[in-house]
Amino acid sequence: MARITAGVATSHVPAIGAAIDLGRSGDDYWRPVLAGYEWARRWIAASPPDVVVLVYNDHASAFSLEVIPTFAIGCAETFEPADEGFGPRPVPPVEGHPDLACHIAQSVILDEFDLTVINKMDVDHGLTVPMSLLFGQPEAWPVRVVPVAVNVVQYPPPTGNRCYALGEAIARAVASFPEDLDVHVWGTGGMSHQLQGPRAGLINREFDGAFLDRLVSDPEGLRRIPHIEYLREAGSEGIELVMWLIMRGALGPDVRELRRFYHVPASNTAVGHVVLEPVG
Ligand code: DHB
Ligand code: FE
Repeated sequence: MARITAGVATSHVPAIGAAIDLGRSGDDYWRPVLAGYEWARRWIAASPPDVVVLVYNDHASAFSLEVIPTFAIGCAETFEPADEGFGPRPVPPVEGHPDLACHIAQSVILDEFDLTVINKMDVDHGLTVPMSLLFGQPEAWPVRVVPVAVNVVQYPPPTGNRCYALGEAIARAVASFPEDLDVHVWGTGGMSHQLQGPRAGLINREFDGAFLDRLVSDPEGLRRIPHIEYLREAGSEGIELVMWLIMRGALGPDVRELRRFYHVPASNTAVGHVVLEPVG
Protein backbone atom coordinates (compact mmCIF):
# COMPACT_ATOMS: atom_id res chain seq x y z
CA MET A 1 0.00 0.00 0.00
CA ALA A 2 1.04 3.61 -0.43
CA ARG A 3 2.06 5.51 2.71
CA ILE A 4 2.69 9.14 3.70
CA THR A 5 6.21 9.33 5.07
CA ALA A 6 6.72 13.09 5.51
CA GLY A 7 5.26 16.57 5.20
CA VAL A 8 7.12 19.60 3.91
CA ALA A 9 5.97 23.21 4.10
CA THR A 10 7.61 26.12 2.36
CA SER A 11 6.94 29.63 1.12
CA HIS A 12 6.88 29.93 -2.68
CA VAL A 13 8.21 33.46 -3.30
CA PRO A 14 8.46 33.92 -7.11
CA ALA A 15 11.62 36.05 -6.82
CA ILE A 16 13.45 33.00 -5.41
CA GLY A 17 12.64 31.18 -8.66
CA ALA A 18 13.94 34.12 -10.67
CA ALA A 19 17.12 34.27 -8.56
CA ILE A 20 17.79 30.55 -9.17
CA ASP A 21 16.97 30.76 -12.90
CA LEU A 22 19.15 33.85 -13.44
CA GLY A 23 22.18 32.41 -11.59
CA ARG A 24 21.82 34.84 -8.66
CA SER A 25 21.59 32.24 -5.86
CA GLY A 26 25.05 33.23 -4.64
CA ASP A 27 24.14 36.92 -4.23
CA ASP A 28 24.42 38.27 -0.66
CA TYR A 29 20.65 38.75 -0.59
CA TRP A 30 19.70 35.21 -1.71
CA ARG A 31 22.53 33.08 -0.27
CA PRO A 32 21.05 32.91 3.28
CA VAL A 33 17.59 32.06 1.89
CA LEU A 34 18.85 29.14 -0.17
CA ALA A 35 21.21 28.00 2.60
CA GLY A 36 18.12 27.49 4.75
CA TYR A 37 17.01 24.72 2.39
CA GLU A 38 20.30 22.83 2.26
CA TRP A 39 19.28 20.50 5.09
CA ALA A 40 16.06 19.54 3.28
CA ARG A 41 17.86 19.14 -0.05
CA ARG A 42 20.26 16.62 1.51
CA TRP A 43 17.44 14.90 3.43
CA ILE A 44 15.26 14.42 0.35
CA ALA A 45 18.16 13.39 -1.91
CA ALA A 46 19.04 10.65 0.61
CA SER A 47 15.53 9.22 0.52
CA PRO A 48 13.35 10.69 -2.24
CA PRO A 49 9.65 9.83 -2.15
CA ASP A 50 8.00 8.29 -5.22
CA VAL A 51 5.31 10.94 -5.34
CA VAL A 52 4.68 14.38 -3.84
CA VAL A 53 1.08 15.50 -3.31
CA LEU A 54 1.91 19.16 -3.74
CA VAL A 55 -0.66 21.58 -2.31
CA TYR A 56 -0.23 25.03 -3.82
CA ASN A 57 -2.21 27.93 -5.22
CA ASP A 58 -2.43 29.13 -8.77
CA HIS A 59 -1.94 32.91 -9.00
CA ALA A 60 -4.38 33.52 -11.85
CA SER A 61 -1.78 32.02 -14.24
CA ALA A 62 -3.43 28.72 -15.21
CA PHE A 63 -7.04 29.27 -14.21
CA SER A 64 -7.48 33.05 -14.83
CA LEU A 65 -10.16 34.80 -12.85
CA GLU A 66 -12.92 33.34 -15.04
CA VAL A 67 -12.92 29.91 -13.42
CA ILE A 68 -11.81 29.54 -9.81
CA PRO A 69 -12.07 26.07 -8.28
CA THR A 70 -11.87 26.06 -4.50
CA PHE A 71 -9.97 22.76 -4.55
CA ALA A 72 -8.65 21.11 -7.72
CA ILE A 73 -6.55 18.01 -8.39
CA GLY A 74 -4.27 17.57 -11.39
CA CYS A 75 -4.77 14.15 -13.00
CA ALA A 76 -2.68 14.76 -16.14
CA GLU A 77 0.48 12.90 -17.22
CA THR A 78 2.47 16.15 -17.37
CA PHE A 79 2.15 19.76 -16.21
CA GLU A 80 4.11 22.47 -18.06
CA PRO A 81 5.48 25.58 -16.31
CA ALA A 82 2.98 28.44 -16.72
CA ASP A 83 3.76 31.72 -18.43
CA GLU A 84 3.45 34.19 -15.56
CA GLY A 85 4.08 37.29 -17.65
CA PHE A 86 7.83 36.96 -18.31
CA GLY A 87 7.58 33.61 -20.08
CA PRO A 88 7.54 30.19 -18.40
CA ARG A 89 10.34 29.40 -15.92
CA PRO A 90 13.14 27.36 -17.56
CA VAL A 91 12.45 24.31 -15.39
CA PRO A 92 11.58 20.76 -16.44
CA PRO A 93 7.96 19.77 -17.00
CA VAL A 94 6.35 18.27 -13.90
CA GLU A 95 5.48 14.57 -14.31
CA GLY A 96 2.16 13.64 -12.75
CA HIS A 97 0.92 10.32 -11.35
CA PRO A 98 -2.48 9.94 -13.02
CA ASP A 99 -3.32 6.63 -11.30
CA LEU A 100 -2.71 7.97 -7.80
CA ALA A 101 -4.33 11.32 -8.66
CA CYS A 102 -7.49 9.63 -10.00
CA HIS A 103 -7.58 7.36 -6.97
CA ILE A 104 -7.31 10.36 -4.61
CA ALA A 105 -10.02 12.18 -6.60
CA GLN A 106 -12.35 9.20 -6.37
CA SER A 107 -11.62 8.53 -2.71
CA VAL A 108 -12.00 12.12 -1.45
CA ILE A 109 -15.03 12.91 -3.65
CA LEU A 110 -16.83 9.80 -2.36
CA ASP A 111 -15.65 10.97 1.09
CA GLU A 112 -17.64 14.20 0.37
CA PHE A 113 -14.79 16.56 -0.56
CA ASP A 114 -15.77 17.82 -4.00
CA LEU A 115 -12.48 18.44 -5.81
CA THR A 116 -12.47 19.77 -9.36
CA VAL A 117 -10.73 17.25 -11.62
CA ILE A 118 -8.23 18.96 -13.93
CA ASN A 119 -6.93 16.94 -16.87
CA LYS A 120 -4.85 19.74 -18.38
CA MET A 121 -3.16 22.64 -16.62
CA ASP A 122 0.07 24.58 -16.38
CA VAL A 123 1.71 25.15 -12.99
CA ASP A 124 3.08 28.47 -11.76
CA HIS A 125 5.62 29.54 -9.11
CA GLY A 126 3.30 28.27 -6.36
CA LEU A 127 4.37 24.76 -7.40
CA THR A 128 7.66 25.19 -9.26
CA VAL A 129 9.49 27.33 -6.67
CA PRO A 130 9.07 24.72 -3.90
CA MET A 131 10.35 22.10 -6.41
CA SER A 132 13.43 24.23 -7.10
CA LEU A 133 14.03 24.84 -3.39
CA LEU A 134 14.03 21.12 -2.60
CA PHE A 135 15.59 19.70 -5.79
CA GLY A 136 17.75 22.49 -7.24
CA GLN A 137 18.15 22.57 -11.03
CA PRO A 138 18.02 18.98 -12.32
CA GLU A 139 17.51 17.95 -15.97
CA ALA A 140 14.29 16.22 -14.87
CA TRP A 141 12.48 16.38 -11.51
CA PRO A 142 13.31 13.25 -9.48
CA VAL A 143 9.72 12.69 -8.25
CA ARG A 144 6.25 12.51 -9.68
CA VAL A 145 3.75 15.10 -8.49
CA VAL A 146 0.02 15.17 -7.83
CA PRO A 147 -0.84 18.89 -7.82
CA VAL A 148 -3.65 19.99 -5.50
CA ALA A 149 -4.59 23.60 -6.21
CA VAL A 150 -6.41 25.69 -3.60
CA ASN A 151 -8.12 29.01 -4.16
CA VAL A 152 -6.56 31.59 -1.83
CA VAL A 153 -6.66 34.41 -4.39
CA GLN A 154 -10.34 35.30 -4.71
CA TYR A 155 -12.59 35.65 -1.65
CA PRO A 156 -13.87 33.32 -0.18
CA PRO A 157 -10.99 30.87 0.26
CA PRO A 158 -11.71 27.62 2.13
CA THR A 159 -11.39 27.67 5.92
CA GLY A 160 -8.33 26.29 7.68
CA ASN A 161 -10.57 23.67 9.24
CA ARG A 162 -11.83 22.53 5.83
CA CYS A 163 -8.26 22.36 4.57
CA TYR A 164 -7.20 20.27 7.56
CA ALA A 165 -10.11 17.87 7.01
CA LEU A 166 -9.19 17.58 3.32
CA GLY A 167 -5.68 16.61 4.40
CA GLU A 168 -7.17 13.87 6.57
CA ALA A 169 -9.22 12.65 3.58
CA ILE A 170 -6.11 12.67 1.35
CA ALA A 171 -4.36 10.51 3.96
CA ARG A 172 -7.22 7.99 3.85
CA ALA A 173 -7.02 8.01 0.05
CA VAL A 174 -3.26 7.41 -0.03
CA ALA A 175 -3.53 4.62 2.55
CA SER A 176 -6.03 2.79 0.31
CA PHE A 177 -3.93 3.02 -2.90
CA PRO A 178 -2.74 -0.53 -3.59
CA GLU A 179 0.69 0.30 -5.05
CA ASP A 180 3.76 0.34 -2.82
CA LEU A 181 4.63 4.07 -2.88
CA ASP A 182 6.35 6.52 -0.54
CA VAL A 183 4.33 9.72 -0.65
CA HIS A 184 5.09 13.18 0.72
CA VAL A 185 2.49 15.88 1.20
CA TRP A 186 3.77 19.43 0.77
CA GLY A 187 1.98 22.62 1.81
CA THR A 188 3.20 25.82 0.19
CA GLY A 189 2.72 29.59 0.36
CA GLY A 190 2.88 31.95 3.37
CA MET A 191 4.19 32.99 5.71
CA SER A 192 3.06 36.52 6.63
CA HIS A 193 2.97 38.84 3.62
CA GLN A 194 0.78 41.46 2.02
CA LEU A 195 1.44 42.56 -1.54
CA GLN A 196 -0.92 45.51 -1.90
CA GLY A 197 -2.68 48.39 -0.19
CA PRO A 198 -1.53 50.56 2.72
CA ARG A 199 -0.17 47.55 4.63
CA ALA A 200 1.94 46.23 1.71
CA GLY A 201 5.19 44.81 3.09
CA LEU A 202 3.61 43.60 6.34
CA ILE A 203 5.62 40.89 8.15
CA ASN A 204 4.61 39.46 11.55
CA ARG A 205 7.40 37.37 13.08
CA GLU A 206 5.43 36.72 16.26
CA PHE A 207 2.43 35.30 14.40
CA ASP A 208 4.68 33.22 12.12
CA GLY A 209 6.65 31.79 15.05
CA ALA A 210 3.46 30.83 16.88
CA PHE A 211 2.06 29.27 13.68
CA LEU A 212 5.20 27.12 13.31
CA ASP A 213 5.01 26.03 16.97
CA ARG A 214 1.30 25.24 16.80
CA LEU A 215 1.68 23.32 13.53
CA VAL A 216 3.51 20.72 15.60
CA SER A 217 1.93 21.00 19.04
CA ASP A 218 -1.57 22.45 18.59
CA PRO A 219 -2.99 21.55 15.16
CA GLU A 220 -6.49 21.27 16.65
CA GLY A 221 -6.33 24.91 17.78
CA LEU A 222 -4.59 26.07 14.61
CA ARG A 223 -7.26 24.65 12.30
CA ARG A 224 -9.85 26.90 14.03
CA ILE A 225 -8.14 30.22 13.19
CA PRO A 226 -10.70 32.31 11.26
CA HIS A 227 -9.89 34.11 8.02
CA ILE A 228 -10.03 37.51 9.71
CA GLU A 229 -7.17 36.54 12.01
CA TYR A 230 -4.93 35.54 9.07
CA LEU A 231 -5.83 38.80 7.36
CA ARG A 232 -5.23 40.97 10.41
CA GLU A 233 -2.09 39.23 11.68
CA ALA A 234 -0.44 37.71 8.58
CA GLY A 235 -1.58 40.13 5.87
CA SER A 236 -3.85 39.50 2.90
CA GLU A 237 -1.52 36.92 1.28
CA GLY A 238 -0.84 35.29 4.66
CA ILE A 239 -4.07 33.39 3.97
CA GLU A 240 -1.89 31.11 1.81
CA LEU A 241 -1.02 29.44 5.14
CA VAL A 242 -4.30 27.50 5.11
CA MET A 243 -2.57 25.28 2.52
CA TRP A 244 -0.06 24.19 5.18
CA LEU A 245 -3.02 22.77 7.11
CA ILE A 246 -3.82 20.31 4.30
CA MET A 247 -0.29 18.94 4.69
CA ARG A 248 -0.64 18.90 8.48
CA GLY A 249 -4.03 17.17 8.39
CA ALA A 250 -2.56 14.46 6.16
CA LEU A 251 0.13 13.56 8.73
CA GLY A 252 -2.16 12.47 11.58
CA PRO A 253 -2.39 13.80 15.13
CA ASP A 254 1.27 13.52 16.14
CA VAL A 255 4.34 14.65 14.26
CA ARG A 256 8.05 15.07 14.84
CA GLU A 257 9.68 18.29 13.60
CA LEU A 258 12.82 17.39 11.67
CA ARG A 259 13.68 20.85 10.40
CA ARG A 260 12.58 24.47 10.77
CA PHE A 261 13.83 27.55 8.93
CA TYR A 262 12.54 31.12 9.11
CA HIS A 263 14.04 34.08 7.27
CA VAL A 264 13.30 37.71 6.50
CA PRO A 265 13.79 39.38 4.01
CA ALA A 266 12.91 37.59 0.79
CA SER A 267 11.05 39.81 -1.65
CA ASN A 268 7.89 40.80 0.27
CA THR A 269 7.48 37.58 2.20
CA ALA A 270 8.61 36.03 5.45
CA VAL A 271 10.07 32.71 4.30
CA GLY A 272 9.08 29.74 6.46
CA HIS A 273 9.98 26.11 5.93
CA VAL A 274 9.44 22.97 7.99
CA VAL A 275 9.91 19.24 7.53
CA LEU A 276 7.61 17.02 9.61
CA GLU A 277 7.39 13.28 10.03
CA PRO A 278 4.28 11.41 11.18
CA VAL A 279 4.68 9.63 14.54
CA GLY A 280 2.86 6.36 15.12
C1 DHB B 1 5.43 37.36 -3.45
C2 DHB B 1 5.00 36.29 -2.67
C3 DHB B 1 4.01 35.42 -3.13
O1 DHB B 1 3.51 34.38 -2.39
C4 DHB B 1 3.49 35.59 -4.41
O2 DHB B 1 2.61 34.68 -4.85
C5 DHB B 1 3.90 36.66 -5.20
C6 DHB B 1 4.87 37.54 -4.72
C7 DHB B 1 6.48 38.28 -2.95
O3 DHB B 1 6.95 38.11 -1.83
O4 DHB B 1 6.89 39.17 -3.68
FE1 FE C 1 1.79 33.36 -3.43
